[in-house]
Amino acid sequence: MLIYLCDKNALAEGQSRGFEMAGLQLLAVRRAGQVYAYHNRCPHRAVPLHWQPDQFLDASASLIQCATHGALFLIESGECIAGPCEGKSLNAIECGENAQGIWVKLPEQD
Ligand code: FES
Repeated sequence: MLIYLCDKNALAEGQSRGFEMAGLQLLAVRRAGQVYAYHNRCPHRAVPLHWQPDQFLDASASLIQCATHGALFLIESGECIAGPCEGKSLNAIECGENAQGIWVKLPEQD
């Protein structure tokens, strides 16, 4: 199921945003022009990652950071590279951009 997420200008380079749709919490990040989307759930304690609305990145804006215990994740793959869930990964969500904006592909629900 393809779902419209937001206008492409609503996610600027080096920024992150949180979304809630179809009962799922998501986050999206744009890095080097590319959009990446993940479930907003830390693999350590299964809690949301953000410390404030739309704030998912570390101070350098180069990694996704969990607000609870500080785990750091690669933006491009969702892999945890430091912290209590090192080696685990965020759940990636297929996403892309077209003329209308940014979309995500959510799993089909029964
Ligand atoms: S809940 Fe995310 S690092 Fe512990």
